[in-house]
Amino acid sequence: MTGRLEKKVVLISGAGGGLGSEQARLMAKEGAKIVAANLQEDPIIAPNQPPDGLWKKTLALVDDINQNGGEAIAVSLDVTKEQDWIDVVSESEMTFGSLDVLSNNAGIYYHAGLLEHTVEKFHQIVNINQLGVLLGMKTAIPAMQRAGGGSIINFSSIYGISGAGLSTAYQSTKGAVRLMTRSAAMEFVEDNIRINTICPGMFDTNLFESSIPKEAWEPLISLVPMKRFGKPHEIAYGAIFLASDESSFMTGTDLVIDGGYTCP
Ligand SMILES: NC(=O)c1ccc[n+]([C@@H]2O[C@H](COP(=O)([O-])OP(=O)(O)OC[C@H]3O[C@@H](n4cnc5c(N)ncnc54)[C@H](O)[C@@H]3O)[C@@H](O)[C@H]2O)c1
Repeated sequence: MTGRLEKKVVLISGAGGGLGSEQARLMAKEGAKIVAANLQEDPIIAPNQPPDGLWKKTLALVDDINQNGGEAIAVSLDVTKEQDWIDVVSESEMTFGSLDVLSNNAGIYYHAGLLEHTVEKFHQIVNINQLGVLLGMKTAIPAMQRAGGGSIINFSSIYGISGAGLSTAYQSTKGAVRLMTRSAAMEFVEDNIRINTICPGMFDTNLFESSIPKEAWEPLISLVPMKRFGKPHEIAYGAIFLASDESSFMTGTDLVIDGGYTCP
């Protein structure tokens, strides 16, 4: 443990997933107290959802952190429900005394041509990826004001930066997250609350595996200058930087971690 997040209480939404669980694990190693939040039922957006479920993974993650000298609790959170957020923020304060960092990480992907988009799927993805991020900020910020400041990390994507095809609804949410981040960052700068995004490139997690057909993987990887998927720890280290005081002069901007995808 090197203590880059010593004394910080970090709430991570979607903590059972590939990028969320790695943030929890590595942030705990840096001394953070972790509130690992996840939906109890799996959001069925694609047919290949893992059978064991991401809530079970959240519980196992918390056990693992606690058995290895860290401190973590698991909490049930549907990011689309405001009351869930209110309960989770108050549980963070009651258990650990404050809330200092929010990783607004939960998200789903929707791989479909524009002409196949349905109103139902559009609303589902906007509710989780966009409204979920707004509600997270709305409920975490008063707690951060009570704590004297904080850092919020909103998950956008390279698909929030440049067009890709077959993901119009997803891209609309990830583009919105970048502007919501800038707007909120300006509004709360005087409260010592910094708000930034992480824009991941392609990472081989449940999100990718359950929604993108295998035959599309090779052509997608060929678009990455480094010619590989990212590894979850490569996102987690970026999140640790944004969560910590090392990024104290950063707000309202993006940390792009994409193997060069957006470079050309
Ligand atoms: N994996 C990638 O290639 C990639 C690329 C760009 C951006 N991202 C973004 O990174 C974030 C994390 O993605 P991941 O790859 O770890 O995906 P993942 O599918 O492995 O994890 C997502 C997590 O979010 C949870 N979740 C979904 N709906 C929820 C809800 N309504 N309430 C609470 N939790 C909910 C899921 O249960 C899961 O644990 C997402 O916002 C995603 O859009 C991922």
